[in-house]
Amino acid sequence: MLESLNGRAVIVTGAGRGLGRAMTLGLLAAGAGVTAVDVDAQALEDMSRAAHSNGAGDRLLVVTADITRDDIALQIVRQTLHRFGQLDVLVNNAGTTSRLLRDDSGPKPPKFWEVLPADFRRVIDVNVVAPFLLMRAALEPMLARHWGRIVNVTTSLDTMWRGNIQPYGGSKAANEAHLLAMSLELEGTGVTANVLIPGGPADTRMIVTAPHVERSALISPDVMVPPLIWLASPESDGITGQRFIAAHWDRTIPKIEAAKKAGAPAAWQQLGKQSIHPDNTPRYSPAREPMSKGR
Ligand SMILES: NC(=O)c1ccc[n+]([C@@H]2O[C@H](COP(=O)([O-])OP(=O)(O)OC[C@H]3O[C@@H](n4cnc5c(N)ncnc54)[C@H](O)[C@@H]3O)[C@@H](O)[C@H]2O)c1
Repeated sequence: MLESLNGRAVIVTGAGRGLGRAMTLGLLAAGAGVTAVDVDAQALEDMSRAAHSNGAGDRLLVVTADITRDDIALQIVRQTLHRFGQLDVLVNNAGTTSRLLRDDSGPKPPKFWEVLPADFRRVIDVNVVAPFLLMRAALEPMLARHWGRIVNVTTSLDTMWRGNIQPYGGSKAANEAHLLAMSLELEGTGVTANVLIPGGPADTRMIVTAPHVERSALISPDVMVPPLIWLASPESDGITGQRFIAAHWDRTIPKIEAAKKAGAPAAWQQLGKQSIHPDNTPRYSPAREPMSKGR
């Protein structure tokens, strides 16, 4: 067993299946205490069985909850503090798509004008509003201890503007832009905020493949674990406002080198012309080159 996260407490949303399940099991195997949150009680139960057969013991706290509810975030943080005495890392992983909300959407993905307004709002609620609610609740204990990690799971840049998948892509763009702004506001506090994505379609329920594509060709959810463990550890102190592509993480080289290989500035700060401001201050700071340390 890796022992690098002994004593750390982590909240993972969407922990019942897919990437969240892989990250929860990986964090537990590394010694962390994990509050595993999901709206799907059955998925949480299945994950919990796997965790306990791997020796999670009392380091797993399971919370069945819909994270879009205003009152839930504080409850999740309070339960975590009660069980583990501290909160070190928040992994905003739970996500949804308009397609996942409708079992009857058929083999063809919906065009954006076919998405029901209620589904559009639901995707924004799960993918954008809930991460904000959780960050808001998690920051109080993190700021008090001058240490903490926010890790948001967004998506590949080209998925953000791809057709036939909206508002999923746009919601992830909003999530990542917020995360970057929050990382800037958090500078100097000891709390960092970064993005972690698989780097392509991963083998989870969310991904529908064409009949000729083997599921085994998809990225394994387990790729998320090594970069997450590094992000959750003091080894990544000061690294903030970055996006890490888990599939590019090279386990054979030192972690800081792997992080340089897999990391880049979050969002799209370096793209295109930036806006003109009266004080001539560039909004994209060269200090935010890949893997620069936050101030
Ligand atoms: N699978 C991929 O290829 C891929 C690629 C890039 C990003 N992502 C992102 O990774 C994250 C995990 O996706 P996944 O592929 O594992 O999907 P998944 O559908 O397998 O798992 C998502 C989990 O989130 C939970 N969830 C959804 N809404 C919730 C809510 N309101 N409250 C609590 N839990 C809720 C679901 O019950 C589910 O267990 C998502 O944010 C997704 O957008 C996935």
